[in-house]
Amino acid sequence: MLKAQGGDFVKELQVETVIVADTPEESTSIKQKMKILNLGCGNSVLSEQMYDDGYKSIWNIDYSQSCLDQMSERNATLRPELVWTAMNITDLKYEDEFFDMIIDKSTLDCIVCCPQAFL
Ligand SMILES: C[S@@+](CC[C@H](N)C(=O)[O-])C[C@H]1O[C@@H](n2cnc3c(N)ncnc32)[C@H](O)[C@@H]1O
Repeated sequence: MLKAQGGDFVKELQVETVIVADTPEESTSIKQKMKILNLGCGNSVLSEQMYDDGYKSIWNIDYSQSCLDQMSERNATLRPELVWTAMNITDLKYEDEFFDMIIDKSTLDCIVCCPQAFL
């Protein structure tokens, strides 16, 4: 079960479902509907490339507002469905099981490798 609360969130992550599309059309539909949370998006092109590959429902969070402003402006025209929100990933404000998939590229490394790491 995926829990969206902070604190022990890393320990609660488990893979529950593997989704396999039978046809290209089904693959397109799944990609469009799948709700994805990108933790600590930064100014990476990951969400942009995923969007261009068909994943249209991506919520991007980071605690750097200036970074989010830059990303929002950069994608306003080409990728208007991407969501950019300031939030601490250790204190998520989403309801449990809101997302189908949560992704992280380098953010946990950033958190656990500091001297005050809480994990
Ligand atoms: C190493 S960068 C990775 C950025 C991006 N995922 C990438 O692959 O380029 C870590 C990012 O996580 C953000 N970050 C670090 N700790 C965070 C936290 N507790 N809550 C939200 N964002 C955080 C930083 O602002 C930074 O943008």
